[in-house]
Amino acid sequence: MSIPETPDVAGLVTEVLLSADQLQAKVRELGAQITADYAGRELWLVSILKGGTFFLVDLARAIGVPVAIDFFGISSYGQDRHSGVVRITKDLDESIEGRDVLLVEDIVDTGLTLGYIRRALEARGPASLRTCVLFDRPYRRIVELPVEYRGFELPDLFVVGYGLDWQQKHRNLPYVGVLNPALFDPSRTRMPWEA
Ligand code: IMP
Ligand code: MG
Repeated sequence: MSIPETPDVAGLVTEVLLSADQLQAKVRELGAQITADYAGRELWLVSILKGGTFFLVDLARAIGVPVAIDFFGISSYGQDRHSGVVRITKDLDESIEGRDVLLVEDIVDTGLTLGYIRRALEARGPASLRTCVLFDRPYRRIVELPVEYRGFELPDLFVVGYGLDWQQKHRNLPYVGVLNPALFDPSRTRMPWEA
């Protein structure tokens, strides 16, 4: 698949892994599945800042039951993101007690981020709590967690687009592309997003 000609992303990606059409088709499929599973109920969608918001907006429009949306933001303290120490940068605006909550996130990799968020939200007494991710690298898991809805399994390559960033940029690409390896240090021992 050829890389769309967008001057400001020249040299950014080497390959389009998932086209905008493939992403949108998968979002519709997930939306239909969620609509069927929650028939007759209302859903409280909680998206994780910032990457999850792109998926949230498309997914919400593919769901046929009444939905409300809210946002949750965390960042890891210090250098070691594996320490499990995180700070809430944006808390939910509303209580989720007694509500059917669906966590909406772009990607689950080690599971550290979503594992923490699931535990934090579970403690607030939702009627139910499920997780929907568009991308997954199950073979990288450190923290096991249930993922009830998932879009695509990704290879162990750093990707950008559709919510995923490189140095906070390029989340707005409508497709998912493999980041040009020339842009990061090939001798790295950790994946670039762990830096
Ligand atoms: P984890 O599941 O806690 O390891 O982390 C997932 C987080 O790492 C996501 O929320 C993303 O912010 C980031 N991430 C993982 N893989 C990629 C990637 O390929 N590109 C950009 N960000 C990524
Ligand atoms: Mg993220």
